[in-house]
Amino acid sequence: MTQRKGIILAGGSGSRLWPITMGVSKQLLPIYDKPMIYYPLSVLMLGGIREIAVITTPNDQSQFQRLLGDGSQWGLSLNYIEQPSPDGLAQAYLLAEDFLAGAPSAMILGDNIFFGHGLAELLAGAARQESGGTVFGYRVADPERYGVVEFGGRGEVLSIVEKPEKPRSNFAVTGLYFFDERAPQLARHVKPSKRGELEIIDLLESYRAQGTLEVELMGRGFAWLDTGTCASLLDAGNFVRTLTERQGLQIGSPDEIAYHKGWISEADLVARANIFGKSDYGRYLSTLLG
Ligand code: DAU
Repeated sequence: MTQRKGIILAGGSGSRLWPITMGVSKQLLPIYDKPMIYYPLSVLMLGGIREIAVITTPNDQSQFQRLLGDGSQWGLSLNYIEQPSPDGLAQAYLLAEDFLAGAPSAMILGDNIFFGHGLAELLAGAARQESGGTVFGYRVADPERYGVVEFGGRGEVLSIVEKPEKPRSNFAVTGLYFFDERAPQLARHVKPSKRGELEIIDLLESYRAQGTLEVELMGRGFAWLDTGTCASLLDAGNFVRTLTERQGLQIGSPDEIAYHKGWISEADLVARANIFGKSDYGRYLSTLLG
């Protein structure tokens, strides 16, 4: 199988967080001690993905480049793609078609934060799937805010509906999508919805209709955190702070993951720690050297 490539979708207007996001992209806002995009980037890295495209608005692209560079500091290759206007999540596959060049993909929304024991194994399982798509269902109290999956008696997927008024289950579809190499081709058949967007749910539906969509449940040992409102943004930051301070371990550090995966050397990590200097993050990286 061609090496799976990653996409981080980090565009959008962020209008639900205005005025905060009038001057800065939502995915660059802090989640406690790190920029939001570090967390989804870390998820792709945990899944073993090293070639990644970051899709942003034309306005924000330079700031993402300033923060993340070409990815070589983490043994990655980062590419940048502009999305001129927020025309829907499925559009990402059209924009990234040349980048993907026939490879299977893992796309993560730049504002989705995952945490939990066994995450790397869960990702590895989805990445091994050679054909079809895999998404993750997560139980939430307010499913009407998300894509919602309905299961039949044998666990088969009966339907997936975007923000239904009357949800048929409590399982939201998280913003992490593993697809085979056909995703751009199938995305081309997606028609704009009533709100004028190429909906990811329609792409999921074409995989489901062909019987090639897996919905893996993320159990209660996982956290899938929302950053869609000011309150949930603050809650996500507090969650990260609580765990980080309690355990003395970082959540969502691309430097730590790159080092543990052997993508960067000890000398590279020392250099990185020196860049961050006296910040808590820099001090933390120094402690990894043992
Ligand atoms: O977070 C999971 C949910 O994400 C799923 O359950 C839904 O099925 C899926 O449609 C999506 O729902 P949202 O309401 O969160 O979608 P939103 O339009 O807010 O976009 C999610 C992120 O993607 C957001 O940070 C902005 C970015 N985005 C969005 C659009 C529409 C883009 O970069 N480009 C876009 O065109």
